[in-house]
Amino acid sequence: TQPLKVALLGCGVVGSEVARIMTTHATDLAARIGAPVELAGVGVRRAGRERPGIDPQLFTTDSESLVKRDDIDVVVEVIGGIEPARTLILTAMEHGASVVSANKALLAEDGATLHAAAAKYGVDLYYEASVAGAIPLLRPLRESLAGDKVNRVLGIVNGTTNFILDRMDSTGAGFAEALDEATQLGYAEADPTADIEGFDAAAKAAILAGLAFHTRVTAADVYREGITEVTAADVASAKSMDSVVKLLAICERSADGTSVSARVHPAMIPRSHPLASVREAYNAVFVESEAAGSLMFYGPGAGGAPTASAVLGDLVAVCRNKLSETTGPGESAYANLEVRPVGQA
Ligand code: HSE
Repeated sequence: TQPLKVALLGCGVVGSEVARIMTTHATDLAARIGAPVELAGVGVRRAGRERPGIDPQLFTTDSESLVKRDDIDVVVEVIGGIEPARTLILTAMEHGASVVSANKALLAEDGATLHAAAAKYGVDLYYEASVAGAIPLLRPLRESLAGDKVNRVLGIVNGTTNFILDRMDSTGAGFAEALDEATQLGYAEADPTADIEGFDAAAKAAILAGLAFHTRVTAADVYREGITEVTAADVASAKSMDSVVKLLAICERSADGTSVSARVHPAMIPRSHPLASVREAYNAVFVESEAAGSLMFYGPGAGGAPTASAVLGDLVAVCRNKLSETTGPGESAYANLEVRPVGQA
């Protein structure tokens, strides 16, 4: 069988893990897919930062030409951010490639454009890794629960802020001190704004709400409050009430079923609640649906290997679809529910 050719865009923490697993698991992946998968090119921003274990010949700074190659079957985008990721994805689709992306910011801002292009060119768009890292969550919402009616999705979808709040709870540290520790241990990025101000969680909430309620929700629709104002005194006061402070993402269908809302903010939850036991940089999400009842998804929400696991799962799925000349589920936004600002739902 002819190998399926994969172009990788981005070779940072996640991208290099994707390449490594593709190499070390090559035999298993070929058996599971039904054809070998070959890494055919790696688009990077700067030359000269090649990664061990990857053929140096594969690296290029010309990602645009890479995604225009007609022999590429799948493009894996792990660059992040809106541009150039969006243009590269759209160009790849136009040239017949299916796309696997981990890009929550792009999916939350302009998922509709990407989905429309995927439908137009008859290719796949999968993005399990964009929300809650390794935790299988989008596929369950898109597929396993497709026959049920989801009413609420609630949980911890940002590992960095959970680590900070967990440290504040266990050591009594203030926000700045806990953030410093998170940075030193590599949990927080050099610029932690997206995490601590709740932008990262809001993007994830938008993606979850869109899939859960089959309607279009963008990051701008999500009410957002980060954790920068949470003080040691707030955490101590929660503790005195046998509670903990967590940054929650809450996506809900209104009681009359005609609208949905999504919000991200710190909340006090009783220590007896399962979400209170989510420690360090882990994520956990509850999905409440009519027939299934309450489901809990728990696991590592960030990190190279866990995120790569989700990317690889998508890669297997889109490769299988390619071989059988089919595509997976497209955009689930058919319900056109009103997205109401929080407070008016
Ligand atoms: N910065 C994110 C987090 C990484 O802390 O959860 C995964 O999206």
